[in-house]
Amino acid sequence: MSRQERFHLAGVMGWPVMHSRSPVIHNHWFAKHGLEGRYVPLGVEVERLPAALRALPALGFSGCNLTMPHKRAAFSVVDEVDPLARRIGAVNCVVVRPDGSLFGRNNDGWGYIESIVEAAPDWRADAGPIVVLGAGGGARAVLVGLADRGAKEIRLLNRSAEPARQLEKEFGGPIRALDWSARNEALEGAAMLINATSQGMVGQPPLDISLQRLPVSALVSDIIYIPIETPLLAAARARGNRAVNGLGMLLHQARPAFRDWFGILPDVTAELRGMLEATL
Ligand SMILES: NC(=O)c1ccc[n+]([C@@H]2O[C@H](COP(=O)([O-])OP(=O)(O)OC[C@H]3O[C@@H](n4cnc5c(N)ncnc54)[C@H](OP(=O)(O)O)[C@@H]3O)[C@@H](O)[C@H]2O)c1
Repeated sequence: MSRQERFHLAGVMGWPVMHSRSPVIHNHWFAKHGLEGRYVPLGVEVERLPAALRALPALGFSGCNLTMPHKRAAFSVVDEVDPLARRIGAVNCVVVRPDGSLFGRNNDGWGYIESIVEAAPDWRADAGPIVVLGAGGGARAVLVGLADRGAKEIRLLNRSAEPARQLEKEFGGPIRALDWSARNEALEGAAMLINATSQGMVGQPPLDISLQRLPVSALVSDIIYIPIETPLLAAARARGNRAVNGLGMLLHQARPAFRDWFGILPDVTAELRGMLEATL
């Protein structure tokens, strides 16, 4: 006889989805906390997203994560969206509420900031100018996280100028869009450099940038986690900069999701990080 009233269920919806490392994280936490449950990859094609999300309560799921290509489409399916997810412009976590309604959240920005604080406890968002490269989905979450943490100056550069200008207009505050061609000079006096482009990811060429003008005291962060050490991070480390990879963002965004679904805020431990690294 189980001590739990029901078997805990959650998963990640995407298409494709089998590459996702989220099952490793959540299934580790089930085992760690002695809970009977399973977190599964849910291969859901675009046109089936509404039906798949609506089926969650009937199937006894506590919720799910969303990955490509569903993060935006979920807005029109869930019953309520958290204001933070609305600002980021994407839902990465759906919570089934007791009445069966669906609540959309986004934990990526929080996860990003937690990963930086974990790796560099003395880090402060207002320590100096922050250079952010990229204006896609990942960059949006990072920008909202940085702004909410009190960043005073964010130099935003994207290969195509328009998305960066749009973000400057939409978010305002500390964000200043600069031309992609100015990316080497933009590093002058920066306290932090963040790569939120896809460049340096497995199968992609390294990010085309010279770190020559970046102060050695600057923190360099890449939200990519495959490979764990991108060419950018390797170059930063080689010249003495502290470097943080994207694995922490993936790990930390999962914590509030597990808490919202199962009532426990789990920890990111060296054991879990090691398990995840072994899959990369
Ligand atoms: N650690 C995590 O938890 C986490 C979370 C989210 C994303 N990520 C990673 O972050 C990366 C970006 O993901 P995303 O969801 O933000 O993707 P996305 O929305 O498709 O955005 C891709 C970004 O990369 C830029 N880019 C593409 N090709 C480029 C090139 N040749 N030179 C310079 N910039 C280029 C794009 O610029 P244009 O606008 O000019 O195309 C855009 O800014 C991926 O590697 C993803 O795996 C990690």
